[in-house]
This record gives sequence, structure tokens and C-alpha cells, in this order.
Amino acid sequence: MCGIVGYVGAKKAGSVLIEGLKRLEYRGYDSAGICVQHEGRLHIKKSPGRISLLEEKLAGENGIASGTVGIAHTRWATHGEPNEVNAHPHTDSKGRIALAHNGIIENYVTLKQFLQSKGRQFVSQTDTEVLTQLIGEFYDTGVRPLERAVQAALREVTGTYGIVVMSADEPDKIVAARKGSPMIIGVGKDEYVIASDASAIIEHTANVVYFNDNEMAVVSRQGLRTMTIDNVPLTKEVQQVEFTLEQIAKGGYEHFMLKEICEQPEVLRQTLSGRLDLRDMRVVLGGLGGVMRELVKTKRLILTGCGTAWHAGLVGEYIFESLARIPTEVEYGSELRYRNPIIEDGTTVIAISQSGETADTLAAVRETKEKGALTLGVINVVGSTIARETDAGVYLHAGPEIGVASTKAFTCQVAVETMIALMLGRRRYMAQERMEFYLDALSQIPDQVATVLKQTDAIRDIARKYVEYGNWLFLGRGYNYPIALEGALKLKEISYIHSEGMPAAEMKHGPIALIHEGMPVVFIAPKGPIYDKICSNIEEVRARKGRVIVVATEGDDKINRLAEHVIRVPDAPPALQPLLTVVPLQLLAYHAAVARGCNVDKPRNLAKSVTVE
Ligand code: AGP
Ligand code: GLU
Repeated sequence: MCGIVGYVGAKKAGSVLIEGLKRLEYRGYDSAGICVQHEGRLHIKKSPGRISLLEEKLAGENGIASGTVGIAHTRWATHGEPNEVNAHPHTDSKGRIALAHNGIIENYVTLKQFLQSKGRQFVSQTDTEVLTQLIGEFYDTGVRPLERAVQAALREVTGTYGIVVMSADEPDKIVAARKGSPMIIGVGKDEYVIASDASAIIEHTANVVYFNDNEMAVVSRQGLRTMTIDNVPLTKEVQQVEFTLEQIAKGGYEHFMLKEICEQPEVLRQTLSGRLDLRDMRVVLGGLGGVMRELVKTKRLILTGCGTAWHAGLVGEYIFESLARIPTEVEYGSELRYRNPIIEDGTTVIAISQSGETADTLAAVRETKEKGALTLGVINVVGSTIARETDAGVYLHAGPEIGVASTKAFTCQVAVETMIALMLGRRRYMAQERMEFYLDALSQIPDQVATVLKQTDAIRDIARKYVEYGNWLFLGRGYNYPIALEGALKLKEISYIHSEGMPAAEMKHGPIALIHEGMPVVFIAPKGPIYDKICSNIEEVRARKGRVIVVATEGDDKINRLAEHVIRVPDAPPALQPLLTVVPLQLLAYHAAVARGCNVDKPRNLAKSVTVE
């Protein structure tokens, strides 16, 4: 999820910073920039796209080539298109302070309005420029030195940040701070390297200082001072980095897919943060502001996507109909685009896509928009084609998803759909107390996902037992029927084991003929209004000596009698259960693929984004 680098030392900062950004490329980004101090000035260059494009712009930039103190950034856009003006570093209006930022300033709109009332002009669409200008405002009104102005500004901020800041008026100094985004400092011989992770540091030194949230540092030629953002001095221990470069890129996990499965509590918090207003009990989705009047009059919803995104849409079909009471259907992008769909007044199409570039989904958006539908995007990549061609949308804020198999994007897509459904439901028929119930339950989901993740070893043991079986069935009902499909897709696409998902009751209409002794059958059977029905389906499989694996609710003892293996998820309202029940299936597929020696992050024949028909 983007990267920051800072350098204070005797080497030429430009080359140290560019090489540092390259080490952070794996984190995913859409633009990059650099700022080097030289002879009392800040020399800045920024570029959309790859770091190599930025490098091309540095030719002849003597200031950047000569200075020995600087900061640099790879941006994963959350607020504002991934273009040159929105790329970091950003400066205050006098051009004397430069800042690079990882994270999201949630209250940037309010802060921007305050700064504009003070006469400050803005050049970008980003939340980061607001933080930079706020530091400038404190600095210009006498809050000195730079670290004090940074502290004053951070006290006004809600959100997440990993920042590096420098001022042309205080040469050879970088201020760094973190909250919710990573930041560590390499301590070399008369030099310091600040970065998002050690991969940008270890070629200079293995001595690092790790920081916790609300901690910060002042780095200069005089040394390293550490304190809290409330200016309480801290003593930090210098530790040794043991990881290899590749291990650091994966956050210590063996594969990006496992890292992204395990990131889900954190990214779900990011997806929800700033959007669930638990004080006024409402959902706040800024990206839909411009279309709300038309959106609330929706008479029919069409959700469209491909693969896992289509599965998220199928969950959405149940959620929108139950929470917003809007007639909803889900269509494969590849089918919707050619079906000459009937689009009447009041039809809203929601395109779901991690990449925002899937050709079939994009074509479906164009087809339905052409016919007069209001089109929305539920997208992860900011500024992607689908994000730009839909009338409005809600970004996932899930950070880049590197593993080809979509995991964290799926849960964030479902979370966004749930927020949209609650927002519309409250504007239609939903009573205040039902809204409060769901907002409270939704806000607990990230911690509940973290609970499910603790069972990864037990799930690995189950996967290892059955990896030699060539056919698996995944069965679920209601909100968990789409999870059965998603579980089957995960298993087949990364372990190459054939598997099929379906509504549990459908098994009786043919597929039950497949059940043979030893066949693994996975049931998603949390507590709910149709729990007894699915228990009957489990009995039908047991009677034919299938091997029953069940995802069940914590505390459900009845299931122990029916299942050979039980994976537990916390209790949640049926509409929110998919956010929990999908996680064991992601892990089951992951461990099966590892046990079979498959290329988990890059499965054969697959692309991360299918930009062709
Ligand atoms: C899911 O694990 C697959 N990688 C694939 O089905 C994917 O979900 C599909 O291609 C849609 O991609 P998108 O979300 O980027 O549009
Ligand atoms: N929210 C900031 C932006 O959109 C920073 C994004 C990042 O972490 O790279 O520019």
C-alpha cells in the first residue's frame, strides 16, 4: 500500500530515494515523487505511473542530484486521480514545507474548509495536501520548530498516516510520524533512512528503530530524537533486521495471498472508517453525494461483475433486498453486456471490480449507461477505467491486492455493498433502531474476522487431509449460498482441485449422485433461520459417507454430532455472516494450494485483471 522514504546523510539523496522507492514497488502504487533539499530550496519532481517515468524526469535536475537530504513517495491514490498534481510530496502554499504521506486523513474536508477560510489555496484533490497546508498554517503562525508544527497539526487530524516532512527553513532535518500506517528508521553510520518497511533500508544498514502508532522522530545530522506526537520524549531500542528482501515484501508471510487474507481486519477497518457514523447512526459515503437524489429513487438494482466480484454481487442481491427492500438482480458482466438488457427509469447498475479494468464489467457499464441507467462503481483501484466511467462510486480503500486470487477485495466489496444498502434502507423503510443494530454489528466485523484468522493452523490441518481428493462440493443457503460459490472458486483457481458450489437444497436435484465415500463436502452452516434445513442436507451427505466439513457458529454444539470437522465463526446477523464465513474458505483454499505445491500468488493460466474479453 504505497511507500514513503526519507534520507539524511552524506550520500546523494536522489539516488538513495529512488532506489528506496524501487524496493517498495511491490506495495503497489500509481504515481511517485521526490523532494531533495539543496542550497536552501526544495527541489521536487513527480510523475504518474511507474518510478521509471519519474527517473526520466530527473535528468538534468542538479538540485535533486546534489542534495543529501530528501523524501520520496509511491502513491496508492485514495483521494484524487493518480496524476502528477496529486502525487506526493505536497508542499504548503509558500513552497517551504514538503510532505509525503501514506494513509487517509478522514476529516480532510473540514480541515480544508478551515484553511480556505484562512485564505489558503489548494492545487490538488488530495487529503494529503490538506495536512501539509495545516502544518504550514501552524508553522507560519509561529509554531516552531517544524516538529512542533507537525505535532500541532496531527492533533487536529483523524485518520491514518505515515509521514515524512521537511522544511527549507530548517535544512538537514526530516520529521517522521506514524499512526495506522507503517514507518521505521534505519540507523546507519552518520546516516538515517526512513521508510515504510525495511526493504528500503537493509542495503544501507540492518540497524532499525520500529515505531508504534502516535510516535514520531526528528532526524538530523545531530542524530535521532524520538517522542510521542504529544512531545513526550521516548527512548527507542535499535534492533536488527533478520528478514530477507522477499520476506519483507510479504510482511513476513510466505505468500501475498496469505498476507492479504490476514490483512482483512485492518483493511475492513479502513473500508468502514469515516463512513459509519455511530453518533448520528448513519452511513456517510462521500462518493455518492452527487447522485443521492437519483439513487434513493432506485426502483431496480442490477449488480454486475465477474468471478469473485460477481460473487460479491450475489451476496449484495440478498443484502439489498433485505436491508433496502429494492428489487435486485446480479448479472455476469459478460452476459449483461450482450443481453440487450431492459433498462427502465429508476434502474441503477452497480459495477463491482477490484481492478476497475475488467473488460466484461466495463462493457456492461457502458451498455447500461447508454440505455439510461445510473451507474455506480464499487472499486478498489482509484482512477481506474470503471471508476472514471461510472456516474459515482465508493472506493474500497483495501490497498493493492497483489495475489491473483481475490480475498480482501471481496470482503471489502461486501462491506461497501452493506453500507450502501443500509444508507438506502434508512432513507426508505428501515427504522432507526434497526439501523443502530446493523451499524453496531458491522463495526464489530473487523475484530470478528481477526478471531476467525486465529484458526489458520486447524484449517491447514483439514486442508492437508483432503488435498488428494479430486472433487469437492461447497454448499450453503441464503446469504451463504454465494459463499459456497466463492469457496469453490478459491479452491479451484489456486489448488487446481475441481470444486463446485451450489445452494445446499439443490444437491438433491442431481449433484447428490456425486457423493461417494470419502468425498469432501464443505457446508457453510452458521446459526440462522434456515440452520435446521442445512442440517438436514448435512445428514443426507453423511448418509452417503461424504466427509463433512462445516463452518459453524461459535457455541453451536449440535453441529459437532453432524460434522467431522468444524471451523468456528463468531455469531453475527445473517446479512453480515458472509464477511465472516468466507474467511475459513479462503484459508482452506490457500493451505490446500500450498500442500499441493501450487504457485499460490500466480496460479497457472490466470491474470490478476482480465482486461480482454
Ligand atoms: C478471483 O479470485 C479471480 N481473480 C477473478 O475471478 C476476479 O475476481 C475477476 O477476474 C474480477 O476481477 P475484478 O474484481 O478486478 O474485476
Ligand atoms: N490519501 C493520500 C492520497 O490519496 C495518500 C494515499 C497513499 O497512502 O499513498 O494521496
